[in-house]
Amino acid sequence: MDFFDAVKNRRSIRSFKAQEVPADFLAKMLDAARLAPSALNEQPWEFVVIADQVKKKQIRVLYDAARSKFTLYKQDTSFLENATLILACTKSDATRDIISVALATENLLLAATALGLGSLVMTTPVSTEEQVSFFRRECNLPAGIIPLALIAVGYSTASSSQKESGMQGMRELSMTAVIENFSNRRNANRRSATTVGELCCNSSIQPANRSIQKRTLESIMHSEKF
Ligand SMILES: Cc1cc2nc3c(=O)[nH]c(=O)nc-3n(C[C@H](O)[C@H](O)[C@H](O)COP(=O)(O)O)c2cc1C
Repeated sequence: MDFFDAVKNRRSIRSFKAQEVPADFLAKMLDAARLAPSALNEQPWEFVVIADQVKKKQIRVLYDAARSKFTLYKQDTSFLENATLILACTKSDATRDIISVALATENLLLAATALGLGSLVMTTPVSTEEQVSFFRRECNLPAGIIPLALIAVGYSTASSSQKESGMQGMRELSMTAVIENFSNRRNANRRSATTVGELCCNSSIQPANRSIQKRTLESIMHSEKF
């Protein structure tokens, strides 16, 4: 799948078939995560793959409790038991590390889409002390490793029209980016002098031409436990 199609087709999926994600697909998604940019090239991410049915049930119970506590996300949470879950962790809570793990997570989500899988990133499952202690204990997280988000991946049961309708709420490009400063923001009454199209044509950004050593897949991927 073309990169831009993957970006457009990725939508949050909350309904999965009870069908296991093949190990080579998981490896491809995690490999895409591994290659993300990171501040100081620290690659501060760790991922724990959780496929164990008992753990997934427990995660669902804790998720439901957190949803009602924070009155977030009214939804049928059975999807958590059909999906393969991946816990994305960071080595520190410095902003640069959190952003780096978020970028790796987006790579993973886009790779899932390119492989024909549905995905969802969630922070509600890691939002209470009880949840964090659960992951610490059950995944044997080393001291200093902080759970940041839970990713669900699997075979979607959503129809393409359901995914299309998810696009409708997206803010438009002209409302998301400005050229140089906010006074150039396009609005209904005034057209900005410089368009996003012009910016793209004039861009002189060159890819960096240096080889950077990346952490291996084996070193970032953990099955059930560290
Ligand atoms: C940081 C973050 C946390 C999120 N947490 C949850 C969550 O706890 N539960 C959930 O169902 N969706 C969660 N989502 C998914 C968002 O609701 C979803 O991305 C958003 O509604 C846009 O829809 P889209 O992903 O289909 O474009 C989260 C997304 C992000 C980026």
